Amino acid sequence: MNRREFMQFLGVSGVAATLPLELYSKTLKKAPLPHLAPSVEDRLITLDGLNHKVLIRWGDQINKTEKFGFNNDFIAFHPLEKNRGILWINHEYVNPVFCSQIERTKEAVDTELKEVGGSLIEIQNENGSWSVVKNSSFNRRVDGNTKIPFAWDEEIKNSDFALGTMGNCAGGYTPWGTFLTCEENYDMFWGDKLRDGTTKKSWFNWDKIYPRSPQHYGWVVEIEPKTGKSKKLISLGRFAHECAAVAKAKNGLAVAYSGDDTNDEHLYKFISKTSDSLERGKLYVASLEKGEWISLDREDQPILREKFKDQTEILIYAREAAKLVGATPLARPEDIEFDPLTGNVLVALTNNKPKGDYHGSILKIVEKDGDYGSLKFSHEVFLQGGKKHGFAAPDNMVFDKTGNLWFTTDIAGGEIDKGAYKGYGNNSLFVFIRSGAHAGKVIRLASAPREAEFTGPCFSPDFKTLFLSVQHPGEESKSKENPTSNWPDGGMPRPAVITLEGPLLDQIVEGKI
Ligand code: FEO
Ligand code: CA
Ligand code: CA
Repeated sequence: MNRREFMQFLGVSGVAATLPLELYSKTLKKAPLPHLAPSVEDRLITLDGLNHKVLIRWGDQINKTEKFGFNNDFIAFHPLEKNRGILWINHEYVNPVFCSQIERTKEAVDTELKEVGGSLIEIQNENGSWSVVKNSSFNRRVDGNTKIPFAWDEEIKNSDFALGTMGNCAGGYTPWGTFLTCEENYDMFWGDKLRDGTTKKSWFNWDKIYPRSPQHYGWVVEIEPKTGKSKKLISLGRFAHECAAVAKAKNGLAVAYSGDDTNDEHLYKFISKTSDSLERGKLYVASLEKGEWISLDREDQPILREKFKDQTEILIYAREAAKLVGATPLARPEDIEFDPLTGNVLVALTNNKPKGDYHGSILKIVEKDGDYGSLKFSHEVFLQGGKKHGFAAPDNMVFDKTGNLWFTTDIAGGEIDKGAYKGYGNNSLFVFIRSGAHAGKVIRLASAPREAEFTGPCFSPDFKTLFLSVQHPGEESKSKENPTSNWPDGGMPRPAVITLEGPLLDQIVEGKI
């Protein structure tokens, strides 16, 4: 921001805008922190200087035969030539109230299978504004029926492929230019079956209509942007994968971090055998007490040799293996990002209500010698949720180019502004400022419509636009006719992807606030 822009920001113009530089500098130190009050309104509210626009919404046609799915979540941008790109957008789960019907029938489940997975859409920027390229040959869906091979030498429950992907929460983008989409709460759809015979019931009862192996879900899926070609990466283990964040070790090998978003589950790291693939390598799990990444390889662990018949079984039941080797239980590890200022690994720990942790925190992992390939680390709290900073339940994160941390919150729809969350308002988008007069402060930038969660924050390559999902508005609705939210068009609510732009975004991204 130059001096004149700064004065305009303060609402000062004319003679005052020609203040001596010394006075300008003093004033800079006292520039007011923009502030958006918590809100429980059914509106998408942004701070002045931030503008939003719907890019694509549930039900929009993306090509002649396919539609944009429900409950959009993670967003990643694959650049094409100038001003164009392909977005991958997750469709995490369904809400039968809006998507189909409560009664479980074949027709209802068939409809819902098409709503999950993800969308690939080409977008273009014309005159500073992003729009979807209608009927681009890149536009396609991956859904609950797409045949996806397992990238593994052995079959998984008598098959070398899975039908479909679902529970796609967050994800990642690899250094070799592919998308990663993570199957989180797969048991919502198919239930689960543990090695000791214990079963877990599904929420949506899809398994009653189409019996499928729960072991075919709970993986990280890799997607080629231009073709949609996909594969499930067995090597990264099976659990409620929130995301997969990929970096390179000092020796050039690919390293993927992933959290298991369930109370008292774990943080994992996978070190590949190569620099450009995640198909073969070694999976580790974090012990915070020891500051060590502990191998989950059968060759390294006598206890795993004793309890599991082979490495495939260890990977399918990674949670059980992790506990046997002493993994640290965590407060629902969600998104993971690499701090561009320090290289440290940040992990959103949303909350752990049974343990009295309602507001969550962001954990900092400092790898030994700054090497993602290291097996030793230290850790500390990077940012604590709660009253001081005015946010609770941090979830998805993204850094901007000057190192400010943009993050969203995920207070459950039925708990918003109640109990431990009273006063926090609707879920929101925040930014943690890293430099300048307001370093260390957290700013609420946008407030979501009723019962919605912002997810999938993703910057355009020029950092002029933040793509953001608005997921599950009106989630607590009991009927289509009487929804608890009408966002964005009035009537029935529709999950949608928005673009956020404007002078305030530019100022933050440029480190001028
Ligand atoms: Fe789908 Fe962990 O949020
Ligand atoms: Ca999430
Ligand atoms: Ca979430």
